[in-house]
Amino acid sequence: MLKAVILVGGPQKGTRFRPLSLDMPKPLFPIAGRPIIQHHIEACVQLPNLKEILIIGYYPQAEMENFVVTLQNLYSINIRYLQEFTSLGTVGGMYHFRDQIRAGNPKAFFVLNGDVCADFPLRDLYEFHNQRPASALVTIMSTEAARQQAIHYGCLVFDRVSGAVSHYVEKPSSYVSTFINCGVYVCSLHIFAKLAEVFHSKVQEFSSYVNGNGKDQGHIRWEQEVLTPLAGTNQLYAMPVPSWWSQIKAAGSAIYANRHYLELYKKTHPERLANSGVKRGEDDGNLICTIFPDVYIHPSATVHHTAVLGPNVSIGAGVSISAGVRIRESIVLENALIKEHTLILHSIVGRGSVVGQWSRVEGTPSDPDPNKPFAKMENPPLFNKEGKLNPSITILGCFVQVPSEKILLNSIVLPHKELARSFKNEIIL
Ligand code: GTP
Repeated sequence: MLKAVILVGGPQKGTRFRPLSLDMPKPLFPIAGRPIIQHHIEACVQLPNLKEILIIGYYPQAEMENFVVTLQNLYSINIRYLQEFTSLGTVGGMYHFRDQIRAGNPKAFFVLNGDVCADFPLRDLYEFHNQRPASALVTIMSTEAARQQAIHYGCLVFDRVSGAVSHYVEKPSSYVSTFINCGVYVCSLHIFAKLAEVFHSKVQEFSSYVNGNGKDQGHIRWEQEVLTPLAGTNQLYAMPVPSWWSQIKAAGSAIYANRHYLELYKKTHPERLANSGVKRGEDDGNLICTIFPDVYIHPSATVHHTAVLGPNVSIGAGVSISAGVRIRESIVLENALIKEHTLILHSIVGRGSVVGQWSRVEGTPSDPDPNKPFAKMENPPLFNKEGKLNPSITILGCFVQVPSEKILLNSIVLPHKELARSFKNEIIL
C-alpha cells in the first residue's frame, strides 16, 4: 500500500501569484480546467496501490473542504486535508501528522510540492526507489536546468549509475550542478526517525532563544534541514527525468503550465479537449467555434460560433464568449463575459469579469527561452531597476469591468475594479 502527501502551504505563501490567489487558495487555481493540485491527484490515482492522499497546509479547512469532498467522490479514493495550526515549513507538517501518514503501514509515500506542474512519472519514481539499497530514505525526482537558472532551485550532485546523491544545496549562491530538485519525492517510513532527530534538536535550539526565532518550534525546512544532511550518506537518491516540469510561482507561469497540461491531455484525456469536435452536444446543435488546438472549454460555457479560440486556451464554467471574439494563450475563469469582437492575448481573465466589445486585453509572456536547452520559466521581479513594471501577462482579478473599445496592455488589475480608460504597463489598484 502506498500513500501520497501534497504540500500546499497557506495564505502567506504564493504571494507572487496575486491577484489570482486573492479570492482562492493558489493550489485550487484552475489550469487546463482543473485546479492545480487536481493534476497531482490525477497522477496519484493512476497507481492502483495508492490508497490515500493527504493534503497538508495551513489554509483554513473551509477553503479546502469542497474540493476535497468533490475529488474524493470523483476518484473514490480517500483524500483528506490536514490543517497545520501555523506554518510549519516544508516538512514540519509532515512530522506533525506523522501518525496519519504511517497509519495502515504504507510501504512508502510520495511527497509532492503543490506548486509544481509536470507529467508526474510516479510509477517510475517508485520503481527506481524500490531498486535502491534498503538504506534509501528519499528519492528525489530531478530535472536538468540551464546553468544560469539552476541556482534558483535546489541543486544536486549524484552518481549517474547508482543515483546516490553526494551533495545537495538549496538555492546555492554559485554554480553547483545543473540537476535540480523537482519537489517530487518517494520516502520510506524510516524518514520519520530522521525527522524526529531534527525536531528534537530544534526544540533544544528553540528553548535557548529568548523570544523564539519568530517561527513555531515545529517549523522544519525539508531541503536545508533534512535533504542537505542526508546527502553523502547513501540515504538520498535522485532519478533524473527528461519529461516536462515547471514550478508555478508568478501568475505568468499559469499560462505556461496551461499550455503543457493541455498538450498532456492529448495523451491522457483527449476527451477533455475541444480540438476536434464541431458540436457542443448532441441536443443543442450549437456549433463550437473555430478552434486552433489545444483548447479546453467547460461544458457549461457558451461560445458563439463565430469566435476563434486557441492555441492554448482554457475557458471555465459558465463563461460566455460573444460573436467575433478572438482568444489565444489565455485562461478565462468561471462566469466571465467576453463581449463582441474583443481580443484576449497572453492574459488571465478573472472570475466574473466583464470585457466590453471591441476591446484588446494583451500581455507579454515570460516563457522559457526555446533556444536554450533545459531553460525553465523566468520569474522576473514585478519592477525593473528603474522602478517600472516589467512586461508581464495581463491579469484581470475577479469581477473586473473593462469598458468597450479600450486597450489593456501588460497590466495587472486588482479585483472588483471598474476601468474607465485604457492602461499600459500599470498595476491598477
Ligand atoms: P520560494 O522560491 O521561496 O517559493 O521557495 P521554494 O520554491 O523552495 O518553495 P517552498 O520551499 O516555499 O515551498 C515548497 C512547497 O512546500 C510548496 O508546495 C509550498 O506550498 C509548500 N510549503 C511551503 N511552506 C509550507 C508550510 O509551512 N506548510 C506546508 N504544509 N507546506 C508548505
